[in-house]
Amino acid sequence: MNLLEAMEERHAVRDYTDEPLTADQIAALKTAIGEANAAHGLNIQLIHDVPDAFGGCPTHYGRFRNVRNLIALIGRDEADGTADLDERAGHAGELLALTAVTLGLDTSWVVLHETDAHDGKWTLGEGERMPAAIALGHGTRPGRPHRSKPADELAAVEQGTYADSPAWFRHGIEAAMLAPSALGKQPFRFTLLADGHTVKAEALEGVQAEIGLGIAKLHFELAAADADFVWA
Ligand SMILES: Cc1cc2nc3c(=O)[nH]c(=O)nc-3n(C[C@H](O)[C@H](O)[C@H](O)COP(=O)(O)O)c2cc1C
Repeated sequence: MNLLEAMEERHAVRDYTDEPLTADQIAALKTAIGEANAAHGLNIQLIHDVPDAFGGCPTHYGRFRNVRNLIALIGRDEADGTADLDERAGHAGELLALTAVTLGLDTSWVVLHETDAHDGKWTLGEGERMPAAIALGHGTRPGRPHRSKPADELAAVEQGTYADSPAWFRHGIEAAMLAPSALGKQPFRFTLLADGHTVKAEALEGVQAEIGLGIAKLHFELAAADADFVWA
């Protein structure tokens, strides 16, 4: 399974069996995490095979059961505010979630509260925070597809119509339609500018919208990889 197929296969799963991750899965995830940390200046950590990977932290919402493995998306806000930590965590985290799916694992994004106050096995360095995390493992049952916003709500074009826009833009939007977001609200929009190759990606008003923007941009980039588009 490649990453584009993993986008179709990925659905939030919140209830897991006791089956541990294999040594190969752990090694592959650690390699991908090392690459993500280097690329985005993050301190992402894998917690695996513990009885409660949330470490007693409350979740923002949702009922999870038997989460034994977690990708803790940790980093530092840039002093100059240029590269938003939430957006970087979204982008890096979704690549890791899709990688986990290619390894045969189920996943769910989750926002944990009080991450410095409970018994989590992650380490928060000076000035670091954890905007979100990804639960992973073997689901007790398969996830189901969820409704996404239609393409014409997620996309805008400055010139012409969406239907007549380049194939790479429409492929990017179709991939963004599969992007997970808090409460499934997908608060983001992609606009193809009049020059025909610059795309403006914006977070709209909504819960954890900047994380969702990073996730959606990753989906768009994977699907439009062959086009020579640039982000505005
Ligand atoms: C940034 C972010 C935060 C999320 N936080 C939670 C959460 O706290 N609790 C939860 O149960 N699900 C959480 N989710 C999972 C979403 O509810 C889920 O991705 C969405 O409903 C779409 O379903 P799908 O992932 O199956 O496509 C979160 C997802 C994202 C992207």
